[in-house]
Amino acid sequence: MAKEKTAYSCQECGYTSSRWMGRCPGCGSWNSLVEEKVSRSHSRLEAGGAIHSRVYPIKEVEIDEELRKQTGIDEFDRVLGGGIVAGSLILVGGDPGIGKSTLLLQISHNLSLKGHGGVLYISGEESPQQIRLRADRLSSLSEDLYVLSETDLSLIVEHIGSLKPQTVVIDSIQTIYDPDLSSAPGSIAQVRECASQLMHLANREGLSFFLIGHMTKDGSLAGPMSLEHIVDVVLYLEGDKDHLYRILRAVKNRFGSTNEIGLFEMGEGGLVEVANPSAIFLSGRSHPAPGSAVVASLEGTRPFLIELQALVTRTNFTVPQRIVTGLDYKRTSLLIAVLEKKVGLPLREMDVFVNVVGGVRLAEPAADLGILVAIASSFRDVEVDGRTVVVGEVGLSGEIRRVSSTEVRLKEAAKLGFMRAIVPAGMKEGLDYPPDIEVIHCQTVLEALKHTLSARSVN
Ligand code: TYD
Ligand code: MG
Repeated sequence: MAKEKTAYSCQECGYTSSRWMGRCPGCGSWNSLVEEKVSRSHSRLEAGGAIHSRVYPIKEVEIDEELRKQTGIDEFDRVLGGGIVAGSLILVGGDPGIGKSTLLLQISHNLSLKGHGGVLYISGEESPQQIRLRADRLSSLSEDLYVLSETDLSLIVEHIGSLKPQTVVIDSIQTIYDPDLSSAPGSIAQVRECASQLMHLANREGLSFFLIGHMTKDGSLAGPMSLEHIVDVVLYLEGDKDHLYRILRAVKNRFGSTNEIGLFEMGEGGLVEVANPSAIFLSGRSHPAPGSAVVASLEGTRPFLIELQALVTRTNFTVPQRIVTGLDYKRTSLLIAVLEKKVGLPLREMDVFVNVVGGVRLAEPAADLGILVAIASSFRDVEVDGRTVVVGEVGLSGEIRRVSSTEVRLKEAAKLGFMRAIVPAGMKEGLDYPPDIEVIHCQTVLEALKHTLSARSVN
């Protein structure tokens, strides 16, 4: 074993240094460097990797088609790029209480039913009785699903060695610890050490590991974030606790695209797949009202129709408020500036509130035009026709820029009964738009507003 060393590591961002510093050069936080004992070195020889490794001509590397294990939960398999790759390490992050344990227990149950070998669910947070109670509620009891309540990594490794499961879930990586390290469970040093030992185990035995990590968007629970470069896949389960929808998003995937998202609804019996998201997001809409616009957004290969709502009122403050939920704040401020300068709306004296209905987050620039239409509609107190959908990115000079896959977006809109679409001008000729939707090409925001905020209706 290598001689014992000490290092100082930042508890916020994971920066390591050989000496103590008051301020972390990595993230700039004060007093965040903590002394950690580095008691072991992970040389490849020690991990047993170098002995077995071999150089292959690329054409001779055999691919096992059976490598991917499907869970049967389509929303989940799609996010992973078609299933779980054997031997991979998957980090599942999200806010505390968002539904990570629920999702992973359901996945574990499905995997054990599908004949992918035993599944061991290890919890450092709940007792076997509590897990059983949850499993009862989720109807997730099966023969090949085992539970263990343990936090000591060396014992966990022993249990895995004797049970020989094919899939292991660790709930959560912040609760387990390596007794050889003096730092507390959940510290960056512990989280990293445990994850790297589990990674060696996964590679050696071909096991798939799910590591659950509590992570918040503002980075206040940063431990598991320092694992992003070690693991093969990073998934985020996100959503608003006040809403029922949960979105599973891949932010890193060595075996697939990171564009796809999975949509779930949290119910009595756990997370249920949402196969037709648009129908659900639009289900609460009654009559068209000023300030509402429907955009056709695309997440990966999947079109979503989502309603945006804006409210513009006279401000009581010297600096007007801009309150944005579910959209990028800076982007929305920029769009408000475009409305002021290019369309001439005097928004400087107005508070502007914009909200994405359903608690989802829209990050796509194709929603730009929808945001502007919703704000202008509220300002002018004129409603947008309820069967009009809006698509387009907006540039700084008020021009509408082209977006990808308009056909897919409009097909989804037509399926849901929309009859008119405002799309960017200059789209390629010969696009296969659905016949029952009237497509209006607009070059500028001003033009789009004329088409959406005139008294015209489809019928
Ligand atoms: P949980 O999976 O424990 O969250 P995490 O592991 O991310 O901390 O989920 C907690 C929330 O989910 C809790 O508020 C209760 C709710 N829930 C349901 O609504 N239905 C269910 O069937 C279950 C098991 C949980
Ligand atoms: Mg949990």
